[in-house]
Amino acid sequence: MKPSALSLALLLPALACGGGHAEADGTAGDRAVHSGGAKSVSATTRVLVYKTASCGCCNEWVEHLREAGFTVDTRDVVDLMSIKRDAGVSAAHASCHTALADGYVVEGHVPADQIERLLAERPRVAGLAVPGMPVGSPGMEGPGAEPYQVLAFERGGGATVWATVDPR
Ligand code: CU
Ligand code: CU
Repeated sequence: MKPSALSLALLLPALACGGGHAEADGTAGDRAVHSGGAKSVSATTRVLVYKTASCGCCNEWVEHLREAGFTVDTRDVVDLMSIKRDAGVSAAHASCHTALADGYVVEGHVPADQIERLLAERPRVAGLAVPGMPVGSPGMEGPGAEPYQVLAFERGGGATVWATVDPR
């Protein structure tokens, strides 16, 4: 039997995420390095990321957080929808992974600096979300990047624009 069908089955999940693995540290250079003095928000915060095992862009986003100084743990799960339900993420705000950071929910490809701002300002919201997977967000680098919104959302529904990011 030829292994081609199996190979295709293994390839498809990676393609669904846009194949972000080709991009290497595209934005690392413009980030200020935290050195000395008080520990930064990111250096003292653990982030737990729920994702599916086959999600390539999730791994890219995890790398983005680590480069920003966060300590990141990941959990591969089969039923991501129940995680989102428990976290209060509505279908309209859903993306490929759901993370927990110091009492907040972080849904999708939210930039690390916006998470740092969230943890510094500590607004009364459930968390931040970048719905879908916009091209140009961290872990989704590639041609055709467009400005996208980071939303601050309430459990189960309401949201306001927290930031508009132009990755170009
Ligand atoms: Cu993704
Ligand atoms: Cu993801």
